[in-house]
Amino acid sequence: MASFLQVQGLKQAFPAPGGGEVVVFDDINFDIDRGEFVCIIGHSGCGKTTILNVLAGLERPTAGHAFIDGREISGPSLDRGVVFQSHALMPWMTVRGNIGFAVKSRWPDWTRAQIDTHVEQFVDMVHLGGSQDKKPSQLSGGMKQRVGIARAFSIQPKMLLLDEPFGALDALTRGNIQDELVAIVQQTRQTVFMITHDVDEAILLADKIFLMSNGPKAVLAEIVSNPLPRDRARATMHHDPRFYDLRNHLIDFLVNRSKTYAQA
Ligand SMILES: Nc1ncnc2c1ncn2[C@@H]1O[C@H](COP(=O)(O)OP(=O)(O)OP(=O)(O)O)[C@@H](O)[C@H]1O
Ligand SMILES: [Mg+2]
Repeated sequence: MASFLQVQGLKQAFPAPGGGEVVVFDDINFDIDRGEFVCIIGHSGCGKTTILNVLAGLERPTAGHAFIDGREISGPSLDRGVVFQSHALMPWMTVRGNIGFAVKSRWPDWTRAQIDTHVEQFVDMVHLGGSQDKKPSQLSGGMKQRVGIARAFSIQPKMLLLDEPFGALDALTRGNIQDELVAIVQQTRQTVFMITHDVDEAILLADKIFLMSNGPKAVLAEIVSNPLPRDRARATMHHDPRFYDLRNHLIDFLVNRSKTYAQA
C-alpha cells in the first residue's frame, strides 16, 4: 500500500540574480506513514521551509510531486494544519476568535455553540483556559505559540506541518510546550512534519529524523530512525546510552558531513 505522504523527485530552483538559476534542492524523495512524526534538520538556507511550503500547498515545486492520501497536493487545504515560525495570529481577534475562525472555515454549518465547545476543548489541550478572551498582544510568546498549535490541531487535519514552532521561546517554556506536544501526539497519533534546529527536540519528538545537506543543491542525505522507545520523556531520555549515540550522530552530521554532499 502506498504511504500516506509521498514526495517524489522534488526540485526547487529560483532565478539567480546574475541570470540562470539557483537550485535550492534537487531530487528529494521521501515517504511518511500515517501517525509518523518526522523532524527535518539541516543548516539555515538548505531549503527546509521550502519543502514545508510545498507540502502546505503554498509553493509549487520546479519539478517533482507530493501526494497526500494518494492525491497530488495542489494548494492549501484544511487537510493540513500549519504552524509557522512566527505565530501568525490575527491581532484583532481574541484567542477564542483566532481558533474559532479556523473551526468555522472547517465546519461552516456549525452553530456558534458547537464552535465554542470545540474551541474550548483545544484551548484546554494547550492549557490556555482563562485566556480565551485575550488578544495576542496580551499573551506571552509561548502562549501565542500555543494558540497557533491549538488552532492547527482544532481543524483536526490529516497532517500537521510545523516550521520551528518553538524557535523563539526560552528554554523553560520550550521544554514545557514540548512535553505538551508529546502528550498530545501520543493521544492523537497525528502525522507530523516538523522543522527544528534543536537536535534534542528532534530526538524527543521524532520517530524519524531527516538530515538535509547544505545547499545549494541540497539533498536528503540520510533518514535516521529513532531507536529510543516511543514513551521517552525529556527528563529521562538522556539516561539511555542510545540517546548519546544518536545525538553524536546528528551533531556530527551538522558539523562535518552536511557540507560534503555538494553535487557537481
Ligand atoms: N521566493 C524565493 N526567491 C528566491 N530565493 C528563495 C525564495 N524562497 C527561498 N529562497 C532561497 O531558497 C533557499 C532555501 O530557503 P528556505 O527558507 O527553504 O531555507 P531553510 O532551510 O528553511 O532555512 P532556515 O533554517 O534559515 O529557515 C535560501 O537560499 C533562500 O534564499
Ligand atoms: Mg526555514
